[in-house]
Amino acid sequence: MVYLRTHELVPGMCMARDITFFDSSAGTVVTLKSGAKLTDMNITQMRMSNVVAGAFIDSRNSEARVISSINSEIKENAISNIHSLADNFMDSSKGVSQSDIDAIGNTTEQLIDELSSKKDILINIADIKMYDDYTYHHSLSVAIMAIAIGLEMGYDRKKLGELGVAGLLHDIGKVSVPIEIINKKGRLTDEEYNTVRLHPVYAAEHLRARKLVSDDCCLGIIGHHERWDGTGYPRRLKGDEIHEYARILAVADVYDALTSNRPYRIPNPPNEAIEFIMGGMYTHFDENVVRAFLRKVAPFPVGSKVKLSTGETATIIRNSNDQPLRPLIVTDNGVELDLGDSSKYMNIVILGLCDADAARLIHG
Ligand SMILES: [Fe+2]
Repeated sequence: MVYLRTHELVPGMCMARDITFFDSSAGTVVTLKSGAKLTDMNITQMRMSNVVAGAFIDSRNSEARVISSINSEIKENAISNIHSLADNFMDSSKGVSQSDIDAIGNTTEQLIDELSSKKDILINIADIKMYDDYTYHHSLSVAIMAIAIGLEMGYDRKKLGELGVAGLLHDIGKVSVPIEIINKKGRLTDEEYNTVRLHPVYAAEHLRARKLVSDDCCLGIIGHHERWDGTGYPRRLKGDEIHEYARILAVADVYDALTSNRPYRIPNPPNEAIEFIMGGMYTHFDENVVRAFLRKVAPFPVGSKVKLSTGETATIIRNSNDQPLRPLIVTDNGVELDLGDSSKYMNIVILGLCDADAARLIHG
């Protein structure tokens, strides 16, 4: 099984796991089941709907295994709960209700259970992504990534719950920003940019006024665009002045945004997005949070094709928590190499993902 980008798909390929996405041209939700053979129409729908990657069976690498970090039913429920909460947020006659928050709280508990029971696995970004409207699947990915970081930082159940809810709701204020501005391809005008910068405030004030979530949760939401060096928004807070939940959400938010397909940007491969986050340590991000993040995220997801320093190409079979850059791989000649075994393979280095340059050309 391999993860492929949509430009690499050809009709007849087999789905290795279920994928659900929103077909915006038809206005319907499409589910392609594990085992289904792709048609021309499926591929067009996936490309039109901004699906970035999917898991497909490749007979040459059938031994590559992916442990799914989150059950797909939980992800679908999460998206539907965020959707209904957002609808009520938008409807000034209603507003967000206690039952909306309870549903989000239950979703968060399920995510914590799933992630706590699989503490030793690395988070694979292609695996947690859902292919629905960007804001909602982004919120879910950020919540999952934030909970994984919180677990790594030793958070107790109460803090994980508040952090998870803040992750699911951090961008809910964006539904108040006109969609033309959110999806605009060119540079935003100052006025448009100022409107976008208010989205953390819209969300936090709405929830705080109704006393629906804790103060800490609100501080996480309102501060997710603050930066460690004080150059963020909306309040230009610095370092410890920024609530720790917000510092965690900032890393999860930027990582997911960088690896997503957006109208104004092509998706970055996970290893390059990780490098960007590392480069922002001390300026944009809290060092402790970045270190926890680095222990939880897979730079080369299982199933991805990579270039080696030997000139060969290989597929990732298994990642390791201790040495994320030294996974178990199988070369295209069928030779299995455990790069974590430094006594044998110290001189072999992974240079990058095979399709990163091709993806740039196609999307660019
Ligand atoms: Fe945001």
